Amino acid sequence: MRIALLGPPGSGKGTQAARICEAFKLVHMSSGDILRAEKISGSVNGRKIRDFMANGMLVPDDLMMSIMRERIIKLGDCGFVLDGFPRTIVQAEALNRMLFELQRPLMLVLNFVVDPTVLQRRFEGRRICPACLSVYHVDSNPPQTPGLCDNDQEPLITREDDRHDVVQKRIQTYQETMAPLVAFYAQMGNFKTVDASGAIPEVTKVVLEKMHRHFEG
Ligand code: AP5
Repeated sequence: MRIALLGPPGSGKGTQAARICEAFKLVHMSSGDILRAEKISGSVNGRKIRDFMANGMLVPDDLMMSIMRERIIKLGDCGFVLDGFPRTIVQAEALNRMLFELQRPLMLVLNFVVDPTVLQRRFEGRRICPACLSVYHVDSNPPQTPGLCDNDQEPLITREDDRHDVVQKRIQTYQETMAPLVAFYAQMGNFKTVDASGAIPEVTKVVLEKMHRHFEG
């Protein structure tokens, strides 16, 4: 299975990608996690992307493609879930060409749609584990011990781009780029919309049902 998840910041792409990958034994390719790891590594790319991310802007397409291309090629025959990538028409077209050449085209694109009124609460309560990158929410998806990751007991942190002003910019950026991307995938087929406004288990149920129907007919 080769799947891509589209949707606004905070819509639950990362949360649902983790659950899809567990259910179907796929590799989770989160562009945000990959970029954050580049930043922490202090690599040349990491230094180039720092300001874009801190200000809620998209990393330029050519740089984004150079970061993702090599990682996608390395996946070989493994199934994967792309989370947060592609985000522009340029990225979508470049990804399409690359997957076509590799003879491993995308099989399904799920577009998460969320009632905007629920988004702010999701950002305010999000906590992540800096070690294993697990995502929690203080109310809707709390860890067993408050403030500590269930997997490795690391103290949870807040993402630096979850500050209110940066969140507003990220949502605006998404709104400016979303429509052409959705139109691009809608005309290619294999495109489904998911209402991601409900509770996490409800959304997972809908996603997995859509996937079973799509892949098993
Ligand atoms: P990225 O890390 O991809 O952020 P994003 O797309 O803005 O998405 P988020 O990670 O904020 O949200 P999500 O949809 O994954 O929600 P989550 O599951 O965490 O990108 C960060 C930055 O990197 C970008 O701003 C850009 O600068 C750069 N970048 C990344 N990709 C790029 C690209 N392709 N091109 C250029 N630049 C790129 O859930 C959110 C919270 O809500 C969590 O606390 C979770 O526990 C909770 N939650 C989830 N689902 C539910 C639910 N159903 N009900 C209640 N709570 C829920």
